[in-house]
Amino acid sequence: MTLSVDERVVQVSTARSMLEEIILSPLDAILILGSGLGGLVDTVKPENIIEYRQIPGFVTSTAPSHAGRLIIGELSGRRIGIMQGRMHLYEGWSPIEIALPIRVLRALGATRLVVTNAAGALNTNFNPGEVMQILDHINLTGQNPLIGPHDDRLGLRFPDMSDAYEGSVQTICQRCFDNAGIPLQRGIYVGITGPSLETSAERRFMRQLGGDAVGMSTVMEVIAAKQAGFEVAGLSAITNKADGGLGQQPDTIEEVLAHAAVAGNKILRVLPSLLRAWELDKKATPV
Ligand code: HPA
Repeated sequence: MTLSVDERVVQVSTARSMLEEIILSPLDAILILGSGLGGLVDTVKPENIIEYRQIPGFVTSTAPSHAGRLIIGELSGRRIGIMQGRMHLYEGWSPIEIALPIRVLRALGATRLVVTNAAGALNTNFNPGEVMQILDHINLTGQNPLIGPHDDRLGLRFPDMSDAYEGSVQTICQRCFDNAGIPLQRGIYVGITGPSLETSAERRFMRQLGGDAVGMSTVMEVIAAKQAGFEVAGLSAITNKADGGLGQQPDTIEEVLAHAAVAGNKILRVLPSLLRAWELDKKATPV
């Protein structure tokens, strides 16, 4: 079903009104959990658990290990919304359907977004189980959630993407991992649609483009988030080698999920201090 831009704006405010009645006060930050990272939810004291299918306009995640619910809770004194499960292009959802939750959660007051995902390592120095901080992304999906008629109520027509994963947030994030004694890789995330994995030639091509990790999510959400006015931090759980070299082994979903859990545990340990440091940094910065 194709909605007019007016209907899309109404869709955001309808979902916002419904959620406002449940959550009562504004959110500080949003966390999107990637494949195999659902366990991060256990760190939070849940106040409300809302299935996506209860929220007007939300589509439901069908990917393995993606629960499909929004959890509202408290983490180190901050009110956060956790998307436990996300929607992917490979499930057949449109970029606009994937963008809706981002727009709604921004309308609920949140200004900070932490996106996590599972990703294959294009960079030969990265190993499964490590965490990569996303410095930037390359969108190879050929799609964009902002294509189509525009309405200023959604944000800018041409949002700037030159510092999509803000440098200042990257510095804070690095410091938090250092303080926790957890090594952090840094690199460029390449977004593809999937669901087939890349050929070895495609992986070598992505390396030459400057990519360090490849995955099937994140880029649609981050584009929508920048238009909506979020500050974004991105963390990839490195789940498999994907450099397309001679030693390239076939990837299995079991391997991906097992390594996502290892890397997810590292993200989990840093998340509370990251949210705290990020908020303090913003308070210290004069507007
Ligand atoms: N390619 C694409 N997406 C992925 C991969 C990969 O190798 N690993 C985890 N998600």
